[in-house]
Amino acid sequence: MTDDDGQLEARLEAQDVFEPSDAFVSQANVSDPDVYERFDAEWPHCWEEAADLLTWESPYDQVLDDSDPPFFEWFTGGELNASANCLDRHLDERGDEAAIEWVGEPVDEANRTYTYEELHREVNEFAAALREQGVEADDVVTMYMPMIPELPVAMLACARIGAPHSVVFAGFSAEALATRMNAADSEYLITCDGYYRRGDPLDHLAKANEGLADVEHDTTTVVVDRLGPNGDDFGHDLGAAQHDYGDLVGAHAGATVEPVTRDAEDMLFLMYTSGTTGQPKGVKHTTGGYLSWVSWTSQAVLDVKPEDTYFCAADIGWITGHSYIVYGPLALGTTTMMYEGTPDYPDRDRLWEIVEAYDATQLYTAPTAIRAFMKWGTEYPDRHDLSSLRLLGTVGEPINPRAWTWYYTHIGDDSCPVVDTWWQTETGGMMITTLPGVKKMKPGSAGPPLPGVDVELVDAAGEPIEPGQAGYLTVQKPWPGMLRTLYRNDERYIDEYWAEYSDVDSDDPDDWVYFPEDGAKIDEDGYITVLGRVDDVINVSGHRLGTMEIESAIVGVEGVAEAAVVGGNHDIKGEAVYAYVITEDGYEGDETLREAIVAGVEDAIGPIARPEQVVFSPDLPKTRSGKIMRRLLENIADGEEIGNTSTLRNPEIVADIQAQVTE
Ligand code: PRX
Repeated sequence: MTDDDGQLEARLEAQDVFEPSDAFVSQANVSDPDVYERFDAEWPHCWEEAADLLTWESPYDQVLDDSDPPFFEWFTGGELNASANCLDRHLDERGDEAAIEWVGEPVDEANRTYTYEELHREVNEFAAALREQGVEADDVVTMYMPMIPELPVAMLACARIGAPHSVVFAGFSAEALATRMNAADSEYLITCDGYYRRGDPLDHLAKANEGLADVEHDTTTVVVDRLGPNGDDFGHDLGAAQHDYGDLVGAHAGATVEPVTRDAEDMLFLMYTSGTTGQPKGVKHTTGGYLSWVSWTSQAVLDVKPEDTYFCAADIGWITGHSYIVYGPLALGTTTMMYEGTPDYPDRDRLWEIVEAYDATQLYTAPTAIRAFMKWGTEYPDRHDLSSLRLLGTVGEPINPRAWTWYYTHIGDDSCPVVDTWWQTETGGMMITTLPGVKKMKPGSAGPPLPGVDVELVDAAGEPIEPGQAGYLTVQKPWPGMLRTLYRNDERYIDEYWAEYSDVDSDDPDDWVYFPEDGAKIDEDGYITVLGRVDDVINVSGHRLGTMEIESAIVGVEGVAEAAVVGGNHDIKGEAVYAYVITEDGYEGDETLREAIVAGVEDAIGPIARPEQVVFSPDLPKTRSGKIMRRLLENIADGEEIGNTSTLRNPEIVADIQAQVTE
């Protein structure tokens, strides 16, 4: 054990409650402890405070329309445009200030700064180009792009002309892209030639084109030239319906496009996410409620101020980047950072170098990254002056107290509050976390629900549980940032999120309860520790994956008869994919099949879903009725004791599987 470990251990023993410093509280955007009571008393009118952070073209008539639950509507009758809120309204006062500071992965490449003025200009030009290409309000435009500035430009250009975007994470496979474009009937794709990963240029357009080949309708594509001459080796030629981004923007130099007036409830974007069944779910977010929510939480929880240089190290391809790299920070007129690459390229201090170079004031990242930093050791952050940081955040998965305390001590130098924020793609923005200017922090616990957010922990029957017990998270009242439905599938929206604990025949909004599919514990102070998903969704490095999606990729591989996928504990990733596979007669569970399975998963979903272990077995542990015992497979993956197996149809199989996993 190193000295550092010793000190960390001592601290973990000694301290489980941390108070925000007086210095932080005295400058915090929200520091009034009465905010909780006030929001309860005023609900739902408390959320006017969030809507007031935006500029409305016409005011809303009603804060909440709950006449048709669970199709709740917020700020109805109000009109606004998200791009005007993120750009135009800042021009007078902050036109020359940086909106985006972009850092590419190669260290010898010039970084790029977009002032609000410059970002506004490029968004207008690209909006004009998209219009010329035929994009109209309500057309879904897909983006398949890595962390390059043209991604937020494209999102805001779409918002400007009222076209919802659907961003597909660049690490997803061609097949995943095609599935999402087909599901949304999306006729437009914005992508790029490639990007850098650990020093190498990566051919992204080849993957995009492969996906486009499986799209069932005609498409128009815009391709950003990210790599310049470094992409020449890929030998790309743009096809007939493919346009170069630079040419399009150049052809519309100086163009201005009036922001299209959008109803508060008009769709701002779609985001596909994993659920229990094989098909990804198209989560629909709206213009007024979503933008209010991410703006309010950005200022209340992340303490974002216009003069900050705020750094969220997520990817815009996931909801965290949508809400807390693009929309929340830009709506508040701050400077938002974007980093293209991985935190360990060219060395393990890359993030700390960026924080120091830009005097970043907040850092928002995932527990998986923090655990990796912890493993790499303090020598990397110690090389840099991180004293510009004022607040730290984490999101995406449970954070263990050890990682929390390391982050607080070594990155925050004991002076930055850490906000552990629980939320989901569906919630649009944060729901459970401490307000850093008001609440004490407890490592490992996200904290109480935000003011005005009505979270209750219940048992399987929907009855509230006592402090100290574990139960299920529920949200008892709607909130402005909530998803409105699953795209073109209202029925599935009800089934997936409401059916469990609601009286689905009732017209009374109080009878409707949102179920996020997470388990949690609550303590005497009302602090909530989120335990993780209770459905067939696993969380690998903060990335949400459906086990069914992975299973269907595996059973598609020749030679596989049956597969069961579970999440097993992993020191860095949180969870890792464990695949248990029964081979078809005549096939061997050998290295060739293992490789084919890994390739099959990468093709169907992407490398993030790659199985950590593939275990071949003549059978899987099943109940007498033939149901696969997933819990048991999880225990095996975690190397845990296996209890009584007498209820299994085939108990003899367990030892055989166990032996392979421990190998
Ligand atoms: O299980 C919870 C976990 O991530 C899930 C949502 O994943 P996704 O929609 O991809 O959004 C991730 C970014 C918001 C949740 O159902 N989760 C998220 N944040 C936390 C968390 N688990 C524990 N603690 C958190 N702070």
